[in-house]
Amino acid sequence: MSQDELSESFSKLNAGEDFSEKPQGNDTEVTTATKSAKENRRAVEKAAILERIKRLTKDPEQNILSVIQEACKDTFERKDFNAALQSIKASFYVRDYIGIFTVPENLPVYAAAYIPGRSLCYYEIFRSHPQLVKLLSKDTKMYLPGSGSGSELVGISAAMLHAMPARQRIELIMQDIGDWNGVLKSLESSVRNQWKLDEQQLRCSYEQGDVLDANARRDQLMQEADLITFMFVMNELFVNKAKAMALVQSLVKNMKKGAYLLVVDSAGSFSHLKVGGQTYMIYFLLDAIKSLEKVIGEDSKWYRYPEHLRYPLDIQNMRYFLRLYKKL
Ligand SMILES: C[S@@+](CC[C@H](N)C(=O)[O-])C[C@H]1O[C@@H](n2cnc3c(N)ncnc32)[C@H](O)[C@@H]1O
Repeated sequence: MSQDELSESFSKLNAGEDFSEKPQGNDTEVTTATKSAKENRRAVEKAAILERIKRLTKDPEQNILSVIQEACKDTFERKDFNAALQSIKASFYVRDYIGIFTVPENLPVYAAAYIPGRSLCYYEIFRSHPQLVKLLSKDTKMYLPGSGSGSELVGISAAMLHAMPARQRIELIMQDIGDWNGVLKSLESSVRNQWKLDEQQLRCSYEQGDVLDANARRDQLMQEADLITFMFVMNELFVNKAKAMALVQSLVKNMKKGAYLLVVDSAGSFSHLKVGGQTYMIYFLLDAIKSLEKVIGEDSKWYRYPEHLRYPLDIQNMRYFLRLYKKL
């Protein structure tokens, strides 16, 4: 299947209308006085951010791991911890995701073992891309399917400290097929305790549900969100190709103009998708959707954690692809 054919097969996903970017304001007539006022404001803003970043201590990555370790304290003390971890690894080997994420006893163990590396990686992603920092500086509603284990909560909350606090109102609507309420509650309390984020700056809610199920609530979440993320979940969803395609179609239909879609997933074979006898990376399909403007496209990036970090379990380095799309 050629790229043209593939694009054509996706054309039905396109909204049709071709909105173009509004031109940026012309500031050539800004007076010297206004300029210096702006500079002053920027200096004050920068100082406010630097002050806030101190909450992450001198070693933000270690601080992030400490927040997770604190939240998972009881789980690490479980007698069956190692047995549960081995059973999770065995299920991964045969790609039995449902077998992992729908067994309640597995979930805290999965979180303790798997979210540290991803939380660090998402912290890095959200603090280092100006488009994402901007979203963290204002009133932003985020819909986060497949985020039950909490990496998004931890990574985004830590990155919030790199954004301007004045108008920061972040709402995280986390959703997952598993019963992650307990895990998320203890992560949220550890995050708030450590990083002093109040309910006005950070609002969190959790809904258990299957993002592949088309329903009015899912449409509403898609319509209202300023940012929708799929972080290491897209390739699991594409195990059911038909439903995953319908989900993408629904995203394109429902996302409001100007809203963002962030997809991060394995840059390796886990993200391969077979279409018409050929193998493509999942992002190739998303790139072909005309009503999604690709704002950031990174096909293969490494997140390598700093070697001095200490945590009771090994932390994984990650090779991932990243796409940030804007709905036109
Ligand atoms: C590999 S984990 C990634 C978790 C998290 N996003 C992260 O990066 O750490 C995949 C998550 O997607 C969830 N998931 C899988 N299929 C799902 C579905 N159909 N609807 C909602 N969540 C789903 C799983 O329960 C699991 O929590």
